[in-house]
Amino acid sequence: MRGLVLAGGPGSRLWPVTCAVSKQLLPVYDKPMIYYPLSVLLQSGIKDIMVISTPRDTPRFQHLLGDGSQWGIAVSYAVQTSPEGLAQAVIIGSEFIGNRPSALILGDNLFHGCHFEKSLRSAAEITRGARIFAYRVQDPERYGVVTLDDAGQAHDLEEKPAVPKSPLAVTGLYFYDSTVSARARTLAPSARGELEITDLNRTYLDDRSLGVEVLDPEMTWFDAGTCNSLLDAAQYIETVEKRQGRKVCCPEEICWRMGHIGDSQLERLADEFQGNEYGTYLGSLLKEKA
Ligand code: TTP
Repeated sequence: MRGLVLAGGPGSRLWPVTCAVSKQLLPVYDKPMIYYPLSVLLQSGIKDIMVISTPRDTPRFQHLLGDGSQWGIAVSYAVQTSPEGLAQAVIIGSEFIGNRPSALILGDNLFHGCHFEKSLRSAAEITRGARIFAYRVQDPERYGVVTLDDAGQAHDLEEKPAVPKSPLAVTGLYFYDSTVSARARTLAPSARGELEITDLNRTYLDDRSLGVEVLDPEMTWFDAGTCNSLLDAAQYIETVEKRQGRKVCCPEEICWRMGHIGDSQLERLADEFQGNEYGTYLGSLLKEKA
């Protein structure tokens, strides 16, 4: 399975367009925002990842993440020349995906919680249909909303309904079978000129092959696309990390635990931080193991 991270911009129409860099390069507490969606793909067992961003910021992501070899994975890049919709990601990434299943995650989505890795592993095994993740929210009208039938099967999908039929927002993480790029090519742009992810997911709903996993209420999901949600997310990560003494979505740690890199590489990565708090944490993982 291959993974795509869509990290373009300005994306959210609520974000100040004068911002000098894509928000996914900004920190959420102690690490760049893109580390969080990247970590989700890594926890799914995905090692081949393409980052899609703007012509201006793709080189910045390249500078930040390189080719991924420092983490024992492969990271490649593609440019989205203008923000023409989330579903465009699977067209831009179609060659990279080939005829494999794929996962797409939005660059400003943060997930945290126990048992999530198990859900991710299971989603990464799909070979037919799609799997999306829904989260119960107070303000579903801001999101794509999924309605389930009594058997828990997807029954309806709506984009920002004025009167939502359910409180279940569709989060920015999608697992698809190998037909996804072909399906995206059949979509027409919406009234706002975008290829809508809801329309792409609806093609699976129409085929009765859209699986929905409702995330445990104990899980936390942030769409850090606005100034306020970015601050909320940073405060949440700070609280959890300080309380538990564990970092959330630390790619170096995940890659080390998954065996993509060994102890000596983790030590090298830790040293690069020259004794700052992040490097000390990476070093402490090795000490703990010893
Ligand atoms: P948003 O603009 O939040 O996507 P949305 O269509 O869900 O938002 P809304 O309907 O509320 O306006 O963007 C989500 C993420 O995807 C964000 O990180 C920016 C990125 N993005 C792109 O990279 N390219 C695009 O074409 C779009 C629409 C978003």
